[in-house]
Amino acid sequence: MNIASLAGLRIVVSAGPTFEDIDPVRFIGNRSSGKMGFAVAAAAAQRGARVALVAGPVSLPTPAGVERINVRSAAQMHGAVMAALPADVYVGAAAVADFAPAHAVASKIKKQAGQDSLTLTLVRTRDILADVADHAQRPRVVVGFAAETDHVEAYARGKLEKKRLDLIAANRVGESGSGFESDDNALTVYAVDGSVHALGPAAKTQLADELLDLIAARLNQGPATTA
Ligand code: C5P
Repeated sequence: MNIASLAGLRIVVSAGPTFEDIDPVRFIGNRSSGKMGFAVAAAAAQRGARVALVAGPVSLPTPAGVERINVRSAAQMHGAVMAALPADVYVGAAAVADFAPAHAVASKIKKQAGQDSLTLTLVRTRDILADVADHAQRPRVVVGFAAETDHVEAYARGKLEKKRLDLIAANRVGESGSGFESDDNALTVYAVDGSVHALGPAAKTQLADELLDLIAARLNQGPATTA
């Protein structure tokens, strides 16, 4: 295969889950392992890109040649991604919480005698991907991920349009051999030009390389056009 070089390009990747603190000992998280985003960061660095990897709480090793910025919450990830711009490419592979507790409580919440329910108020987090795509210094290629249990294609195409993305990589979660915690995955990538690309099933390291080929092709195509 002819490997497209990304030498000299700046690529920002977000990866992993976010943890939204409820109190000092509890949080709302998700099952993202970070493996897909870390694989994209590693493969991009191998192709000569300058890579900033904004990583949620995961214990994966930092890929060679990658600048890693560790964050915990969606709000911290938003700040770190914005601070890492401008870039040529943004790949939003993180599973960012859509809602976070309105207030993190400073002391551990104690159950009271006779209490049989607890109500938490959650508020919407800011959409990092949409804000990157709307940014005054928008990266030339903005890539999102859509992990869905149902209606994968319809939801992915909806996000591509609504968040003004160039590519969206969709995968079905909840099946064995694919999705969040697995080393392997299968992705269907929808492009703003209407093309559809089936990647895998394969190791996430190989999928990362195939995704970078699609990104390199879009970089060579110039400004995004809608189908
Ligand atoms: O809308 P949904 O959360 O399913 O979209 C998933 C995509 O949006 C992923 O690429 C994820 O990184 C990104 N996202 C984000 N900020 C949020 C929520 C999702 O960047 N607050």
